[in-house]
Amino acid sequence: MNQTYRPVFLVTGGAGFIGANFVLRMRQNNLAKIINLDKLTYAGNPQTLVSLAEDPEHQLVRGDIGNTELVAHLLDKYQPDAVVNFAAESHVDRSILNPGEFVQTNVVGTLNLLDASRGYWRRLSKDQANRDKCNRFRFLHVSTDEVYGSLGPTDPPFREDTPYAPNSPYAASKASSDHLVRAYYHTYGMPVLTTNCSNNYGPYQFPEKLIPLIILNALQGKPLPVYGDGQNVRDWLYVTDHCDAIALVLEKGKLGETYNIGGINEKTNISVVTTICEILDKLSPKAGLDRKSLITFVKDRLGHDRRYAIDCSKIDRELGWKPKESFETGLQQTVQWYLSNPEWVEAVQSGAYQTWIHQNYGDRK
Ligand code: NAD
Ligand code: DAU
Repeated sequence: MNQTYRPVFLVTGGAGFIGANFVLRMRQNNLAKIINLDKLTYAGNPQTLVSLAEDPEHQLVRGDIGNTELVAHLLDKYQPDAVVNFAAESHVDRSILNPGEFVQTNVVGTLNLLDASRGYWRRLSKDQANRDKCNRFRFLHVSTDEVYGSLGPTDPPFREDTPYAPNSPYAASKASSDHLVRAYYHTYGMPVLTTNCSNNYGPYQFPEKLIPLIILNALQGKPLPVYGDGQNVRDWLYVTDHCDAIALVLEKGKLGETYNIGGINEKTNISVVTTICEILDKLSPKAGLDRKSLITFVKDRLGHDRRYAIDCSKIDRELGWKPKESFETGLQQTVQWYLSNPEWVEAVQSGAYQTWIHQNYGDRK
């Protein structure tokens, strides 16, 4: 998209962690008008978007990407220049307990979104007045490094041509949606882009994921559950770096291509948990409490992938993207954000959250 033209994006899942960070970044810098389609599941939080309440160029629509009529209506009404698909069931542990919901949203929902977008894009192509919009149109699918499976300790990081080998129902559902996106490019010539990113962290992440869960438990003096031996490795990326990469791929990515995005920052889970304890002991000390003493090793996740690592040299080489935030600065800011936003924290720690925590951790003793 060039500098003078301000595009319209249909963002899905823009009330969740990464989607909301993306929407806030787009609106704060006035880079795009946003129609935000979100089902507002337990993971979608309109409070995250409260600063946009009076913004006429952001509109939150509660709805399902699997709702054919609604998606077609939004596309025709708002005539977006791009669809950016963040909407998903995203938590691996939940996919182990309830895989069906993951297939419904991540596979069937994405298929529906692709199909409706294809119809819209074809209608644009037939209308002379919409030729420019048709040429600009992009469908960007936000995916994960988990589609590539698990690495051994000395394996090279995942590249875009690493064969898919998803291990959890979540990863399998994301892999399936990635294949559908690819098929829409090869079969119909649809202008699609796919990004596969490593673990994100930062403000507004729902506290079922490792980093916010550990921050909040440590603050509240609760046990810090570490699955298995704590030696599983993840590659952590600060969320705004991911958002910037997505914006760049939208602007400059080559149609039909996939781009790996990562933090170049592999850490064992135990080292992440230990670092959070050290930061909190400095920022918010509690007399007589060394927070590391709260670390509790619990039963491992079923099929727990051992190591993820991303080779993000393609997006660096072709589009000039690199992560800006280091893990040290990013984690410090993240902990500080949770300390500074107790109202947001309290609102997400609702009844539904308590039920989940009980269900997931009750059996792990
Ligand atoms: P999240 O769970 O925080 O948010 C998902 C959002 O999607 C929520 O707002 C939810 O209400 C919405 N949603 C769920 N089902 C929907 C449906 N059927 N229709 C419309 N909206 C629906 O997830 P996240 O961590 O922000 O992840 C966003 C995307 O990025 C996902 O596709 C995920 O697979 C991918 N991803 C996440 C990470 C990570 O570390 N969190 C890393 C790489 C890729
Ligand atoms: O790699 C990208 C993926 O990262 C995204 O696609 C997923 O949407 C996102 O949820 C994340 O998946 P993980 O399973 O890696 O994230 P999670 O925060 O659930 O767990 C991170 C690691 O920490 C993992 O090895 C499991 C472990 N863990 C997790 C929790 C919640 C614990 O040891 N204790 C916990 O309580």
